[in-house]
Amino acid sequence: MSITITHPQNSKITTQAVIRTKNTMYALGIFADRFPVHLYYGKKSRSADLTYRSRGSAFSPYYPEYGDGYMATTVSSEFPTFGMGEFRAAAIRVRDLSTGSDATEFSFRKMKKYKGRVAINAPIYGELPYAEADGNTETLEMILDDRVTGCELHLYYTVFPESDVIARHMTLINKGKTPVSLEKCMSLCLDIPDSKYGLDLISTYGAHARERHVDRYKLSYGVHRITSRRGASSHMENPCILLCDPKATEERGEAYGFNIVYSGDFLDELEVDPSKKTRVLIGLGDETFSWRLEAGESFTSPEAVMTYSAHGIGEVSRNLHRFTCNHILPAEPFERRPVVLNSWEAFYFNIDGKLMEDFAAGAAEVGIDMPVMDDGWFGERRHDRAGLGDWYPHPSLFPDGLKAFVERVKAKGVRFGIWIEPEMVNPDSDLYRAHPEWALAAPGRVPLESRQQLVLDMGNPAVVDYLSESFATCFKDVPLDYFKWDMNRHLSPVYSNVLPRERQKEASFRHMCGVYELFRRLRALFPHAMIENCSGGGGRYDLGMMKYSTQIWCSDNTDPVSRTYIQYGSTLGYPAATMSCHVANHGSSIEDPRKLNYGFRVALNGPLGYELNILGAGDTAKATMSGQIKEYRAYEHLILRGDFYRLLDPFACGRYAYYFASPDSRELLVTYLQNYGDPKKTVYTLKIGRAVKGVTYRDTVSGKTFTGEELRKGISVESDTEGLYAVMWHLVAE
Ligand code: DGJ
Repeated sequence: MSITITHPQNSKITTQAVIRTKNTMYALGIFADRFPVHLYYGKKSRSADLTYRSRGSAFSPYYPEYGDGYMATTVSSEFPTFGMGEFRAAAIRVRDLSTGSDATEFSFRKMKKYKGRVAINAPIYGELPYAEADGNTETLEMILDDRVTGCELHLYYTVFPESDVIARHMTLINKGKTPVSLEKCMSLCLDIPDSKYGLDLISTYGAHARERHVDRYKLSYGVHRITSRRGASSHMENPCILLCDPKATEERGEAYGFNIVYSGDFLDELEVDPSKKTRVLIGLGDETFSWRLEAGESFTSPEAVMTYSAHGIGEVSRNLHRFTCNHILPAEPFERRPVVLNSWEAFYFNIDGKLMEDFAAGAAEVGIDMPVMDDGWFGERRHDRAGLGDWYPHPSLFPDGLKAFVERVKAKGVRFGIWIEPEMVNPDSDLYRAHPEWALAAPGRVPLESRQQLVLDMGNPAVVDYLSESFATCFKDVPLDYFKWDMNRHLSPVYSNVLPRERQKEASFRHMCGVYELFRRLRALFPHAMIENCSGGGGRYDLGMMKYSTQIWCSDNTDPVSRTYIQYGSTLGYPAATMSCHVANHGSSIEDPRKLNYGFRVALNGPLGYELNILGAGDTAKATMSGQIKEYRAYEHLILRGDFYRLLDPFACGRYAYYFASPDSRELLVTYLQNYGDPKKTVYTLKIGRAVKGVTYRDTVSGKTFTGEELRKGISVESDTEGLYAVMWHLVAE
């Protein structure tokens, strides 16, 4: 069992729960049978210090019966509440609407543990995305209540022992007689003791076409908020963060990882208080959220996840990768991941059925599995100013209909995929003309456009019904294998015409619930098709989207040099299996074997695809691509299911190196990528820590052999004087 509950004797801690994963341990206690306090999170160890400590401090309110034995603002808390002696950031704030008081307090009632987990119910449309349980999953549930409002709070700790991940969420149930309003809703709180003061925060930030650039800095006194108010996790922010010892490297030092299974407005709030404790809160963005609960109603937060490693940042990433692959991503839809050829960079909007058939024939010729028809096939969508919302094939592009067209394409021996952007509407569309009230817009104010489009109010069930019915009709009997689900603007202003005045701060969360519902309906309508997620590239690269999408288009930036940075940053929290990587005709590289080869080596960081006009490719380019696809197939199992190790950081040295290891370490795939020329010819040593001593490995690329000892000491690679340069080693144990 991963969870043990005990009742210590002669202690202020009346109940104690300890959670053990493969390598970590987490402990909490109940102070005086009343308040949940945090005791420990770190390495699994018999000698871990689980002592409860309280510290008296002037200007800190206390309960007369406990004095400085419990001061809310000095203890390590499991789930700090607002306004009852807590001056640090709170995890929950509940407004009693009968009095207007925000003072929030919950007292312990009971805790229980069980095998498996509970579902995360959304207040509308069923469910939020959450991690799937397996035979090892266990849950600790703690129930607290508030005698003033009558609210009950359930805190859940769902344990995934083999990934060293604990997932957390909360449910608030209004069991009182009058309404309350949930004003702040976090899913997870972790108080890290002052002995670890001075941790580094690693997060990613960016822009469209520059996603997930890495930032690392020392967290010092004060509040640090990483948050999205865009209605999407976004290109600019990402909810995944790491905290680590300032000396931590990929292999050494303590590190923590956090994320949330949610794609809308999130908040990662970190506070270092003057006594040098660090508080981490992960949950819903508090500026764009509140939720009214009538008597008898409940609200459940999204699920946040945390992991810890005593062995560096790399292991934290691998814990998150394993967790995502085993508990978040949908089952693989096909016997192998298709190599995609996307039409966007080849033709933009200038597509038609005949052209796409030729494109598919070109794909089949080089061994590509799945041509994808991107934007431009529906309604009056011949450019980005019209058509979004009108989901029917443009008649002149497909004279005998979509079904006959797709059947002809598939007769060439390929699968077929199509682009959709469900959540959006162009003002120039039949849908908007019929239902302008379905778009988010503030009363009396001009609807703000972005890429000439508006956002549909997915919190309105009529909108979700319209969209699912449109897709059901449009794709009826069309043998599609794949949807690329795009999302090309953010939400502002957020105002829903179907909500009353006092519920407008629910609109953003309701919208997200509607988006997830439409994902589920699309998957139910077309159970054999896979979904690739996209938001102007990697603008929703998050665990919420990964629950429904097999892979995510990592960025609209297909320049391989830029990609090394974006891909490196993406691997901090997300597995390579999610990272859709295309070889593109960037800078007319298609007929330049060196550039085409470099683009391919860069793309081998995730599932392979192409983004170019195959019809313009010469014989050399086609032969190169055929060879690349065969090579990719030989490595695919390592890329999609291997353990991932970063070796060189492109942000630090302009070179990106990493390797994948098979679970038994008998197969290794090492990549070195050089982004610019180096007249000095620097030598880099790539240490392959997973190589096994006493084993000889043969490199299938060069034919050379290396002992495990040699690989652990490091392969030397000399930088090239010229620009783009890539080297790979595929090492197989003899
Ligand atoms: C943004 C996506 O990232 C592109 O790949 C492409 O699908 C366009 N949208 C189409 O409008």
